[in-house]
Amino acid sequence: MIKTIKLQGFRNFSKVVFEFTPGISVILGPNASGKTNVLESLHILSTGKSFKAKLEEEVIQYDADIGRVEGVVVGEEETSTTLEAVITRGKMNIGAARPEIVPRKKLLVNGVPRRMIDFSGNFRTVLFGPWDLDLVTESPSIRRKFLDTVLGQVDREYRRSALSYEKGLRQRNRVLWDMREGNIGPDRLLFWNQLLIKNGNYITDKREEFINFINGLEFEINGLKLNISYDKSVISESRLEQYSEEEVGAATTLVGPHRDDFIFNKGERSLSSYGSRGEQRMGVLWLKVAELSYIEEKTGERPTLLLDDIFSELDEEHKKIVMEISLKQQTIITSVDDDFTKDLKKVNKIKFLG
Ligand SMILES: Nc1ncnc2c1ncn2[C@@H]1O[C@H](COP(=O)(O)OP(=O)(O)OP(=O)(O)O)[C@@H](O)[C@H]1O
Ligand SMILES: [Mg+2]
Repeated sequence: MIKTIKLQGFRNFSKVVFEFTPGISVILGPNASGKTNVLESLHILSTGKSFKAKLEEEVIQYDADIGRVEGVVVGEEETSTTLEAVITRGKMNIGAARPEIVPRKKLLVNGVPRRMIDFSGNFRTVLFGPWDLDLVTESPSIRRKFLDTVLGQVDREYRRSALSYEKGLRQRNRVLWDMREGNIGPDRLLFWNQLLIKNGNYITDKREEFINFINGLEFEINGLKLNISYDKSVISESRLEQYSEEEVGAATTLVGPHRDDFIFNKGERSLSSYGSRGEQRMGVLWLKVAELSYIEEKTGERPTLLLDDIFSELDEEHKKIVMEISLKQQTIITSVDDDFTKDLKKVNKIKFLG
């Protein structure tokens, strides 16, 4: 669980410290007071990445050169780890004629610089906000990103494979491009084929295992079972062979987990085409519950749940379900009002004035 965070030059915060309890913390404040920014900083400590910035330097306070998030995480055995993310604009004004060129991002664990794959996984979180409805309704890339975020948090080998696959894919596409231009022959593909098959199969297997896990958590809406079908794009020698001509024509790799998708169904019908908005929301809730349980099963610890402003969109019954889930692990909730906390015995309130 996360104990404290310190933000410096991060979004609307010049310098501030927040403390969290093992139970429920509620961040309260009017619109634009910085509630979501706090969750964003927590998510950066968890994954090394922002969930909303398109360009990472967006998180740096307008007039600052550096944005910094530091957090102390304590494990089951009271061991504490300090995680730190430092984001810059790539250069720093040091008073000299020219600005100094600096790395855009530095991630540190206990003061030691770490690569992204070794930084993430130290503080596990599940994030849930109104935008998650996009998981049901929007394009496949959002669903693949979701799979990567969950699996990447529990499995270093998955993080390594995903990174290696992504780099290999770019290289292989470049070779396909050169082949189309007639510059090189197909033997240049062999190395990249092997690399993509090896890493791609690992990714596919883990995604399949997780999707089977979700389907094992039974959840019904109006008597019909929710289920997910994995629309996987397997990469193998024979599949690459099958698409070899088309791939050169398109100068792009046409099979592999970068083309995966999954579909939510209620019974036999897809939730994106036939589900009501409320049903789609329940589909996402089911996914989030599965995410919490899966991470617990894999790591032995429940992750911290981050809820961004979700109550305004839920009816009473679903509010109750979410509050029950919130009691099971450390949960940090943002909201404009605290009506939903009235039945809670213990709650840590953090108030912003705006
Ligand atoms: N790089 C930045 N530097 C300074 N301020 C920023 C930066 N990025 C965003 N902000 C400020 O942060 C505010 C938004 O904060 P945030 O999204 O956390 O608000 P919120 O409390 O979640 O509001 P809401 O209730 O509307 O969701 C914006 O109004 C903006 O002024
Ligand atoms: Mg917000």
